[in-house]
Amino acid sequence: MKILGIETSCDETAASVAEGKGEKVTILSNIIASQIGIFKKYGGVIPEVAAREHVLKILPVINEALAKAKIKRPDALAVTIGPGLVTSLMVGVETAKTLAYAWKLPLVAVNHIEGHIYANFINNPNIKFPALILTVSGGHTQLVLMKAHGKYKTIGETRDDAAGEAFDKAAQIMGVGYPGGPIIAKLAEKAKTTTPIKFTKPQTALTHGRGPGDIHLPRPMIDSPNFEFSFSGLKTALLYQIKKDPDWKNKIPEYCHEFQQATVDVLIHKTLKAAKANQTKTIMLAGGVSANIELRKQMGEAIKKQLPQTKLHIPELKYTTDNAAMIASAGYFRAKRKAYTRFDKIKTEPNLPLK
Ligand code: KG4
Ligand code: ZN
Repeated sequence: MKILGIETSCDETAASVAEGKGEKVTILSNIIASQIGIFKKYGGVIPEVAAREHVLKILPVINEALAKAKIKRPDALAVTIGPGLVTSLMVGVETAKTLAYAWKLPLVAVNHIEGHIYANFINNPNIKFPALILTVSGGHTQLVLMKAHGKYKTIGETRDDAAGEAFDKAAQIMGVGYPGGPIIAKLAEKAKTTTPIKFTKPQTALTHGRGPGDIHLPRPMIDSPNFEFSFSGLKTALLYQIKKDPDWKNKIPEYCHEFQQATVDVLIHKTLKAAKANQTKTIMLAGGVSANIELRKQMGEAIKKQLPQTKLHIPELKYTTDNAAMIASAGYFRAKRKAYTRFDKIKTEPNLPLK
């Protein structure tokens, strides 16, 4: 089956054709028109501007995805219905609805977070259940148990900011640009190589607040007896530290390093704790923050050491941040179960939970 995925939940207009056979999904095309260039100067997304851009880009992006995949028409359609910005979601959903009607094609409604999870299934048919998923994006930070395709139970989530949102806000506090995650990660790399400040302790996964030089940030809720997170205090702690430090502008890489490490420490500690408690065979990462190289590397090392029987799956980098290949992948597995939605019944659900 060749399935066209459409994604417009935030600030990327994306379309992709995936081919599914049995448990295997391959990607024939993956087109993304990103609006990051537009929103850089504002430091965040403006929903109405994003929606207008989607309207301009959606048809050229779909045409390109079909042309690249060398098909005129797919066998089915999959579209993100939520969670996301309502006016952005509407563009994708209305387009998919129209194509489903005109082409008489079955239509699948996809949850954006489920899409992020299914980025792991692209070119990867050997994922064993039960699995634990750490979903870390701009809007979500969740630990989800997955018993089988489409069967989810959220066992913990953030009480305030999402991990990606914390990166974005930390970057805003330091005035280093948008989106914050990749910028902070790049600056943090510099702290390792080019600065004279010595690391006072080895930067292992559980340093509990020890960072380079005299910079220490908390690891919020790392020892709490649950699987919940909180990142808004970390951002505030960063703000207070730099306010007290007259020389902070010369130490931005060190602050970025410590901020990133604090986030990574908490994410790894809670994920391993949840995997142990639930005896999962698999751990998966999902969402934009799973592009973070230190998170990917240190999670791999921690699992190897503490849970050597557990297999870690991480999406290929190009499928970590928002894209439509992940929507086509999730859509394929739903289509396999004939979980279709009628074109005249599909609607956007900006607060759609994972279910
Ligand atoms: O999944 P995504 O593309 O969009 C949402 O569904 O939210 O995630 C975007 C988030 C942003 O907050 C961005 O700063 C973060 O992912 N991000 C990263 C990295 N690349 C993107 N965070 C940390 N390190 C990265 N390399
Ligand atoms: Zn996303």
